[in-house]
Amino acid sequence: MINVTQTFLPPIEEYKKILQRAWDKKWLTNRGELLLELEDKLSDYLNISNFFITTNGTLPLQIAIKALGIKGEIITTPFSYVATTSSIVWENCTPVFVDIDKESLNINPDLIEEQITEKTKAILATHVFGNPCDVISIELIAKKYNLNI
Ligand SMILES: Cc1ncc(COP(=O)(O)O)c(C=O)c1O
Repeated sequence: MINVTQTFLPPIEEYKKILQRAWDKKWLTNRGELLLELEDKLSDYLNISNFFITTNGTLPLQIAIKALGIKGEIITTPFSYVATTSSIVWENCTPVFVDIDKESLNINPDLIEEQITEKTKAILATHVFGNPCDVISIELIAKKYNLNI
């Protein structure tokens, strides 16, 4: 069996030292010191200036759709975690599914263009089981049709 959800944990002693700081401050929510420190470190590491951490992976999808002011159809993959589609629906947009590539299991870029209409506003692709989707091809299509990606 191939385990696709292998969990990687730091050594417990290393983790306890970090947790101790939260215990000492008694500050577990609402933009505490550890969260701000992690944001700074990640923002430096990724070289991204507009950066913030959210509580889960669903929120940023919804925030992205909202922030970009997307209203209409969003082309996406039918083979992903439910949040990919639910975030589209929760933001009052319509998901349009494009079939996946049988090798990568990600959205098949060759099938995207035939689903693009005047209502299409964005492409929301995901990476499955560690296989990256064909970002370059998807980006080229998005540019060609002036779509958010
Ligand atoms: C592709 C994808 N998008 C969004 C999510 C949502 O993450 P969360 O459960 O943290 O909201 C997941 C979670 O596995 C995911 O796999």
